[in-house]
Amino acid sequence: MSFYCKLMSKMKLLLYFCIYVKIFSFIFAYELQHTDVVLLGGTGDLAKKYLWQGFFSLFQKYSNENSSFSFTAIGRTVYEEGTKKLKEILTSSVKCGKEKNDTCEEKKSEFISLVKYANLKTQYEYETFCQNLSKKEMSTKNGHIFYLSIPPSAYESTVKTLSEYCYRNDNETWTRFVLEKPFGRDLESAQQQANTIAEYVQETDLFRIDHYLGKSVVKQILLFRKSNKETLEPLLNRQYVDRIEIVMKEIIGVKDRTEFYNQVGVIRDVMQNHLTELLTLVTMELPRNLTDSKEIEEQRNRLLIKVRPVRESGILTGQYSKYLEEAIGAKGNLSQSKYTPTFAAALLKIENSRWTGVPFILMSGKMLDERSSYIRIIFRERIFCVTGCTDGNSSHMHYPRQLIFQIGHGDVPSPGILVSKSLFKPVWCPGLTELSVTSKDSLIHGQRPGDFHYAVSKDKHEAYKSLIEDMYLGCKESFVTLERLLLLWKIWSPVLESIETRVTRIYKEGADHSLNFRIDNDHLVFINDSQSDILELEDSIVHDVKPIISPTDMLMIPSTFMGENLVCKDLIFLFHSLADRIKNIAVMAIQKRNVFHLALSGGNSPVPLFQILAEDSDFPWSVTHIWQVDERCVSQKSDKSNFLSIYQNLIRHINIPFFNIHFMPVDINGRICEESDKGDNHYEEAVKYILDDLRFDAVLLGLGKDGHTASLFPGEKYSSFLSDNKLVAYTKAKDQSQRMSLLLPLINKARDIIVLVTGKSKHGILQTLSEITSNNAKIPITLVKPADGNLTWYIDYGAWMG
Ligand code: BG6
Repeated sequence: MSFYCKLMSKMKLLLYFCIYVKIFSFIFAYELQHTDVVLLGGTGDLAKKYLWQGFFSLFQKYSNENSSFSFTAIGRTVYEEGTKKLKEILTSSVKCGKEKNDTCEEKKSEFISLVKYANLKTQYEYETFCQNLSKKEMSTKNGHIFYLSIPPSAYESTVKTLSEYCYRNDNETWTRFVLEKPFGRDLESAQQQANTIAEYVQETDLFRIDHYLGKSVVKQILLFRKSNKETLEPLLNRQYVDRIEIVMKEIIGVKDRTEFYNQVGVIRDVMQNHLTELLTLVTMELPRNLTDSKEIEEQRNRLLIKVRPVRESGILTGQYSKYLEEAIGAKGNLSQSKYTPTFAAALLKIENSRWTGVPFILMSGKMLDERSSYIRIIFRERIFCVTGCTDGNSSHMHYPRQLIFQIGHGDVPSPGILVSKSLFKPVWCPGLTELSVTSKDSLIHGQRPGDFHYAVSKDKHEAYKSLIEDMYLGCKESFVTLERLLLLWKIWSPVLESIETRVTRIYKEGADHSLNFRIDNDHLVFINDSQSDILELEDSIVHDVKPIISPTDMLMIPSTFMGENLVCKDLIFLFHSLADRIKNIAVMAIQKRNVFHLALSGGNSPVPLFQILAEDSDFPWSVTHIWQVDERCVSQKSDKSNFLSIYQNLIRHINIPFFNIHFMPVDINGRICEESDKGDNHYEEAVKYILDDLRFDAVLLGLGKDGHTASLFPGEKYSSFLSDNKLVAYTKAKDQSQRMSLLLPLINKARDIIVLVTGKSKHGILQTLSEITSNNAKIPITLVKPADGNLTWYIDYGAWMG
């Protein structure tokens, strides 16, 4: 046994610390304990499918002469009917499984006879019920477990009632409240729900269940990483990992849950919780001590802070074709059902030194071609096959190298861990048994079964069984803490809001290839018909743009506009080509002068550009200086602030030196554009000090409907815009609000000027400009004339065609 394996066995002992403590106290203190389990929603689906079996296992393992239990199912039906239903459920769902023997059967009968039914509605009924709980036994210690398997909308009121009548926090009683997801529907509601519950229950007594954390293979992830620390950890980073896929495919649909599903959709149902939790386990720093739940939690949260919120362009959604029909049948809210995704794929990014640049694909869907959930880590290929290559292509990069945690189903005989033989020979620790892989399919995750090392969990428990035991023992590491819950929501909340009314792709049940997608320049696109997705994306970026352009019109687009270069494209392509252009300018500038100076204007139009640039991890940010073209005279915290927009959409996502960020000083200690503060002069001085030749490498300008550019508006004194002895000045917008702006002499000195014009609403001004034969000094944009550089118009079809 290797050193790590030995360590693992010791750790496993420690991991069960909670069990030992309990057993120790039972045996040596002769403590008599009685536990009351109250299952609210005890005749519901979840109870039927998993919970009663889980409680039976608990009863089997822990009931003895010192430890007794009683169980109550609380349901909505009246007593006689409820009792009958409960008996039926227990008889059909509680099983002895493999250990079918007399002792187990006896225990099972004992268990079933212990479970009582109660129909509690009024406060008084709760009060009486709770009073009876602690009177039951002459025990020295009482445990109360309230498992809320009820609609989340009822959590707050139920917890309040229970806490009022049943919550005893004396030395003789411990209480646990168990909640099932969903915990809120976004960051705000989760926080609010948590606040309300915290008024009644202490966080230490709350157990938030994510059943994926109880799955046997999931419980092995950190142990496996630890036991293979020396070989695996040096590979688990951006240098070696090509991408990580975290997938949960289902063949079933929503069935009779459309009402619930309309509220959540697949992203809230499984991606914000199950799949992101899995992501954390494979990407967090490996805790030094796996018995230290505090350290594990800290590492998890440290990682989650670094996961960037998912972007709108990084998520694809779909809905199986029969979903609407099902919703109609269920008389659900049809206007909502239309937008409910039953499939989603999302691209996640982690911004830390270990993972920057690695794509993480999280994907889940109902009514797909197979049932399978897994984490698949695909390593970069560095091996070239020279001889013995089976595909006949001798120089072809050959063996796939991957590590797969097969969490449920799939093509393998049993959930387990698969490691490509070409990767390394793993050390399997006590919880795992090595097997040889067999599969009905010739390939598993693209690789021949025989090319994998494979091991399965020895303890193939149901997730709920293990979570119920952990909860009983008070081991909190298998549950979702409040801090983690809020971090998880921070990743998903913004995108959920922005795609709320996105039209989803309709897919056929089963194997529908139209769901196949690819990563394209840091966003996701469906492979077939990517055009229509781009249009959807455009709609969500700039709402007034619906470009419809025929191939003939496309051919008629000239290559210049007003005598300068013209790039005219579909919105999303326009942004990507502009981002490429800026990068090229940057690379050239750095080759020549070792530095790149970029001046950016504000407003809504360039936001998608900022986002694309922010996604580009190869951009030479460390030698880039970011300047502002103009700024509104508002507090820097105002959502009107141009700098805030540049900061939020770009700067905070990139590694740019602090001293390379040059924001216009419109807010000097809360004094907004006080002339006497001479903010314009200060900015001008900074330009003169840092830019020897006063030449920006690239200046990004916008164009207003009235022809303004930067913050140079029609109606101002043009001479002041053009005066050579001033480079930066306070100006006034049409509504007389104050601004700060670069002036034309400085703008016109730039090596590259780019004018970005998007959206239908700009069509009018483009038309006006195209009809101008001579310079019209009343339209500031016509005064933009590079002295010794290029000017390029970037115009999208919406603005071009109107
Ligand atoms: C639940 C979701 O959390 O997980 C369901 O609410 C989903 O929609 C289920 O079907 C899948 O769990 P498992 O354990 O079967 O992978």
